[in-house]
Parts: sequence; C-alpha cells; structure tokens
Amino acid sequence: MSEDTQSPCYRVGIAYNLKHEKEGEPEDEQAEYDSISTIRTIAGAIEKTGCKAVFIEAREDFPEKIKKADVDFVFNIAEGKGGRGREAQVPSILNLYSIPYTGSDETTLCIALDKGIAKKIVKSRGIKTPVFFIWKNNETDIPSRLRFPVIIKPVSEGSSKGILGTMLATNRNELKKLLAEKWARYRQPLMAEEYINGREFTVGIIGNGKEKRVFRPMEIIISPDANPDGSRIYSFHAKTNYERYVKYECPARLEQELEEKIIRVSEQIYDVLECRDFARIDLILDEGGNPYFIEINPLPGLAPGYSDYVMLAENNGVEYDELIRLILNSALKRCGMKTV
Ligand SMILES: Nc1ncnc2c1ncn2[C@@H]1O[C@H](COP(=O)(O)OP(=O)(O)O)[C@@H](O)[C@H]1O
Ligand SMILES: [Mg+2]
Repeated sequence: MSEDTQSPCYRVGIAYNLKHEKEGEPEDEQAEYDSISTIRTIAGAIEKTGCKAVFIEAREDFPEKIKKADVDFVFNIAEGKGGRGREAQVPSILNLYSIPYTGSDETTLCIALDKGIAKKIVKSRGIKTPVFFIWKNNETDIPSRLRFPVIIKPVSEGSSKGILGTMLATNRNELKKLLAEKWARYRQPLMAEEYINGREFTVGIIGNGKEKRVFRPMEIIISPDANPDGSRIYSFHAKTNYERYVKYECPARLEQELEEKIIRVSEQIYDVLECRDFARIDLILDEGGNPYFIEINPLPGLAPGYSDYVMLAENNGVEYDELIRLILNSALKRCGMKTV
C-alpha cells in the first residue's frame, strides 16, 4: 500500500459526560448525560475506521487528562457541567491546547443552549419562532403581549429535561403558579413560549459548506394519552416511554413543496448559528403550514436506537458506524486533515 492510501490511524479522544445517577434525585436530573454503552458504541465505530479511540470523561480533571492522552483529534459529545455555557467547556479547553475536535465551536454551543438567545438570532433572519418571554429570577410579572396557552421550559436544557409534570398554562394565574414551581425545581431562567398546536418535525444536518447534507425530516407524533394534559408535547415522559407513546415517521409525510421549505429553513438556521459538522433542529408547523423554530441541538444525542438524530440518519440510509465516520470526516476535512 502506498503512503497516500494508508489510513492515517489517528488517536481520537472521545470527550463525554456520563450519567451518575443518585438515589432520590428527580427523574429528569441526568437526562442530558450519556450512558457508557453509547460511548462504547461510538468508540467501536471510531475503531472501525482504523483510528484508536481513547476514552476521556470530561470531569474536573479533564485538562490534565486531555494533556496526557496525546490525541490527534477529539470526538466531542461532552455536555459539560453547570450553567448555560456548559457545552462550551470542553471545546474551550481543546482550543486552549490547540486540539481539533468534531462539532460546533464553543460560541455556537453557548448560544444554542440558551433557547432565548438562539430564537432572537434565528428571528433576525426572518424565520418564525413562537413569541416568548423569559424570567431571569423568581419574579413573576407577566407581560400583556403573551397569548395563552403557553409552554414553560427551563431556558438552557435539552433531552426534554424540565418538560414534564404540568407544562402548559392557560391563564396568568396558572402561569404564575407554574413559574414558582419550576423555579424551585430548576433554579434557572424560565421561558414561557406560545404553544403552537401543530405537527412537529425534527431535521438532521451533517457536514459543512457545499457538502452539507440535510436528512429528510422526521415527524414526531405523540399519542394523546402520553401526557396528563392531553397535549402532543414531546415530553420527558413521552420520550422515555417512546415505544408506547411516540410514532416516528421518516421521511415525514409532507408535500414536496412543504418538505423543501422545512429543509430550507433548517439549513438557514444551521448557517445563521454557524453550526459545524452536525446538528438537529426542532420545528412545529402552524395551521397555515408555516414552520416555527423551536430549538437547535448542535450537540444532539447519539444514543443508538434512541436518539432522534440517530433515527434520522438511519431512516435516511446512514447506519450508526457510517454516521460516526461521516461526522468525524466532516470535522477532519474542515480542519484540513486527512479523512478516515
Ligand atoms: N412553543 C411550543 N409549542 C408547542 N410545543 C412545544 C413548544 N415548545 C416546545 N414544545 C414541545 O416540547 C418539546 C420539548 O421542547 P424543546 O424546546 O425542544 O426542549 P428540549 O431541548 O428538551 O428538546 C418539543 O419537542 C415539543 O413537543
Ligand atoms: Mg427539542
């Protein structure tokens, strides 16, 4: 084999945060973190490319561990610890040591994790997003412009964390009560967002620039008995009991024109937030067929057989190992490194 065709055999560190469940904690407390089986599956896919996978859990000793690991590249799936900038912790440290990594940079990850800031930026491009209001502390003054019903969610969470129990308020009193409850539980800014009663879609994107590929959208259909309030919210309860309450339809049944519109809007969102390598976008259609931006996940979950992004890829003909290889290669190419 000539040098050119040989696999570059990189040492690829996987940066991740594991669930460390404690007895008695709320059921959604660890929702954002990964299980070791997901990390092992990612490692297996990396090794199939000829690279060496090195496990690095992103705890407080991450800076020392990453220095010692002597890796060429990092596959980043780390959620980080604490605060709305937590997903930026690992990328920032990697930047500090000039280690290239997969996925969006620290700035995009911070912005996307703050649903309010992300919505303001997306809205500035003329893309529709439900009207919202954010309370930064436990005051509960309610602006008159908010139309009910509204959904209440913590501003900086994912994986449906905080989307459980009572989620909707139909009037000011209910909203006040819910804000007090959620503040006591999550101790972080809360968002009330006008509830769009419509079909929900999620869109996966992979790659950069001209090589970007948008997977055909997946519709998330929630059974009416999934939530106590009868809503079609993709709640923590619905997601963790998806076999019972969720039907995933991919490709979604959409007229071509509407599908193209959803894909176009998703790509615009990916670009305006300067995402890299991969991301997943949640949208809801109103009665008039207008896609409303709900949120973007530039670090979407990669749990095999469970995460929406993985389902999107598989339903678009990209199996798990290939998905990991494509993410890695998008990043390697972007960094001017030889692909695997
Ligand atoms: N404005 C809204 N109108 C209707 N449903 C919503 C709205 N915002 C969120 N939802 C529902 O709640 C789910 C979780 O909200 P999302 O903001 O995507 O949180 P997460 O980051 O946990 O995925 C969505 O998938 C959707 O079903
Ligand atoms: Mg979501």
